[in-house]
Amino acid sequence: MRAGLRLIRRPAYACGGRIARVICVPYGYPMPGWGIERCDYGFMTSDRERIVDKRNVALLYNSRGGNTKMVAEALRDALAQHGIEAEAREIAAAGLDGARSAIKPADVVLLGFWCDKGTCSEEVSALLPELSGKQVFLFGTAGFGGAPEYFERILAGVKAKLPEDAVYLGGAMCQGKMGPAIRKRYEAMLAEKPGDQRVQAMIDNFDAAASHPDASDEQKIADAMLDALGIR
Ligand SMILES: Cc1cc2nc3c(=O)[nH]c(=O)nc-3n(C[C@H](O)[C@H](O)[C@H](O)COP(=O)(O)O)c2cc1C
Repeated sequence: MRAGLRLIRRPAYACGGRIARVICVPYGYPMPGWGIERCDYGFMTSDRERIVDKRNVALLYNSRGGNTKMVAEALRDALAQHGIEAEAREIAAAGLDGARSAIKPADVVLLGFWCDKGTCSEEVSALLPELSGKQVFLFGTAGFGGAPEYFERILAGVKAKLPEDAVYLGGAMCQGKMGPAIRKRYEAMLAEKPGDQRVQAMIDNFDAAASHPDASDEQKIADAMLDALGIR
């Protein structure tokens, strides 16, 4: 290890031998390095790929209406196809303490949220600052989905809630259907201002969201997650 580099985590990338690749943070940027480590679990792939300990992935999500749950379950199934077992745990159901217990032994945390007023849901906000030293992949669903920049902006805001020594592996989002009360509200707004293009666009977006997440959304987020973990 070069002097001055800060070791931020133990062998999440490399296992299966005495020599393990580790992650260092020179000047704030994560970089792979090499160190001596003892690790008995995991599997080796090619040198350039990351190696994820099969037992060390925690998959947690928060979902009020079921959209983010669908994505979480798709990620669980995608991981299973690569021999990685991860239970998809709903944070509200597990309780924050239950979620913390699931996160504690994990090297990699896949954390899913529904978009609440432009950022992640409260439960996820509470957990993010506690992901010290973890590798984190974020996924989420949001009612608006017209522009990829919108998702990027949300992800950037959520990522900013991570502690400095967490390693952000990446994130992906898709659109998610909204409840009928929202359309009724838009309809009432349109009735007040007939022909209002902004309100009509909101209704059009509501209708476009109704079929999401779909299989393609799930596949894209699963692929992004597998790429981020280096197991595809
Ligand atoms: C209270 C509330 C606030 C929301 N705020 C936003 C928002 O700011 N931006 C957005 O795109 N969608 C917003 N949505 C829509 C949800 O994020 C979206 O429908 C999401 O897919 C719900 O996920 P879930 O089914 O997993 O709960 C909001 C929904 C609710 C109920």
